[in-house]
Amino acid sequence: MKHFLRALIQFFVFLYCKCLWRTLKSVTRKVTGRCELQRICYNNKPGARRTLKIESSLKFSKSELLQSAVSVHPDSVEKAIDDIMTLKKINLDANPQLSISLQACLVQIVGYRSLLGEVEKLRREPYDCENPEHEDMLLKLWKTLRPDAPLTGRITKQWCEIGFQGNDPKTDFRGMGLLGLHNLLYFAEHDKAAALQMLHDSLQPRHSKMSKADWEKKTFDKAIGYSFAIVGINITDLAYSLLSSGALKTHLYNVAPEMPSLMHFQQTYSYLMQEFHTFWVEQDPCDIMEFNRIRNKFHKRVLKQLNDPNMALCPHFAASDIHLVNL
Ligand SMILES: *[C@@H]1O[C@H](CO)[C@@H](O)[C@H](O)[C@H]1NC(C)=O
Repeated sequence: MKHFLRALIQFFVFLYCKCLWRTLKSVTRKVTGRCELQRICYNNKPGARRTLKIESSLKFSKSELLQSAVSVHPDSVEKAIDDIMTLKKINLDANPQLSISLQACLVQIVGYRSLLGEVEKLRREPYDCENPEHEDMLLKLWKTLRPDAPLTGRITKQWCEIGFQGNDPKTDFRGMGLLGLHNLLYFAEHDKAAALQMLHDSLQPRHSKMSKADWEKKTFDKAIGYSFAIVGINITDLAYSLLSSGALKTHLYNVAPEMPSLMHFQQTYSYLMQEFHTFWVEQDPCDIMEFNRIRNKFHKRVLKQLNDPNMALCPHFAASDIHLVNL
């Protein structure tokens, strides 16, 4: 009888504990796990802050479905969101805005990935002088930057006037492939005034630091700012490394409410070119030997700016200007 009683008590204690455990679990699930995506959307305005949080929540989720959502094809985003809503048992009618908000985040997340793929492909494509499209782009670059001075030939010293190294630019693209040319041309065509000004400044002798003898001998090499095209290709390298390290996420999630595209990347590049130029002038280097140091300093400064999730690099795209449906 005694044994029976003890067993009975143990049984009830067990039931009680189990019940308590379940309640606890469901409460925690409500407060944390299950509603995390919801909580992020409710507590953060659209933009980088929200999308970055959704991204890491998905990535570090225990559920495989959630983990794999960040790498679905852009065309499958809608289905991925439906699956998540079903898995999380979220009532769509009660939360009509949630799936829209989640979808906007996921479109940005997978868009960034596909942009990186697109940029990588361009970077790996070498400049090919047999390819008429490549040649056309190169000639267009010349025409945009030097409208009044026609090229005397395809292979000519004139290329140095826009900052290439020799008489055939094809070798200068080596590091960044076609991406370097695409970016230079985008900058020259879309921010023409800024590009021309930058080219002009880069060709100016540095009066203050030049000796009279230099002037007389017209040995400007040391005094000249920098080679426009070469620096332009190098800033493509910088933009590319910001993109591939993920540092550009804050910027792109803030400026591209739908999906970051090549255009956004090229706008970012154009902005970096102008900022680099301003920075270069501010730093007042003696000569091009200081390029490495100034570039590193500039890189660090941009990284620091991008650390702030409210940050957008282009001034004409302030994060606060983004019009998205609020949850
Ligand atoms: C750009 O400059 C940095 C620093 O001087 C250098 O390490 C890098 O290789 C350059 N990139 C290209 C594509 O020339």
